[in-house]
Amino acid sequence: MKTPERKGFFVSLEGPEGSGKSTLLARLASALAARGLPVLATREPGGEPGAERIRELVLRDGFVPRAEALLFLAARAQHVEAVIRPALASGAIVLCDRFHDSTLAYQGYGLRLELEPLRQACRFASGDLMPDLTLLLDLPVSVGLARRGTLQPTLALELAPPEEATTRPTAIDLRPVSFHERVREGFLAEARRDPRRIKVIDASRGPEEVFRDAWKQVMAVLPRGRAHPRTRGAS
Ligand code: TMP
Repeated sequence: MKTPERKGFFVSLEGPEGSGKSTLLARLASALAARGLPVLATREPGGEPGAERIRELVLRDGFVPRAEALLFLAARAQHVEAVIRPALASGAIVLCDRFHDSTLAYQGYGLRLELEPLRQACRFASGDLMPDLTLLLDLPVSVGLARRGTLQPTLALELAPPEEATTRPTAIDLRPVSFHERVREGFLAEARRDPRRIKVIDASRGPEEVFRDAWKQVMAVLPRGRAHPRTRGAS
């Protein structure tokens, strides 16, 4: 069921493995909160107890491509209705680590599921909820996988210091480089398809520069009263 009114603002962060989405999301959340804005930071798959259980399952076990897509979408349906829509209805700025475009990039372009039916399934799962703004952190696949620690050790050491590889690799991280190349190209293709919503940020740079660009993009599209709540008295 859809909530008719939507007072908040919905931002998704997208990108291939190791693109620094989570670090950026944490920085954006604290910068917005420091301005006195209500922020909800969440992630996909997950962000809600049932959806987190689906996350464990889908990232741990192997499923055939259609089943994998439907599990990500089941998690999304749960997360949207239980968490995201209520937060938007209450006026929050929702920052979500991955959403719609990850399903198209990973299951559509990456696993080669048919794009148009998948697009429709995504719309069905989210009840047509789409982000107002998507920040796509783009970087070469080899650099991202090295940051995640899932590239051959010798090349990984050249590209990223080992301490940056923080999280345990999932079954998806360990797919061949050609899969991750299709994912990256898929994200970029979606950005060309919808340049108004999806803003591409060069994530091969340091976290400070990435944050600066991302902040500019958020400020450019946040409704005016919300970007300057103290001076303009946003509710
Ligand atoms: P992350 O939280 O570390 O980004 O991991 C989530 C993984 O799930 C990542 O490999 C991307 C993948 N994923 C999909 O394949 N399809 C989706 O729809 C979503 C939301 C994530």
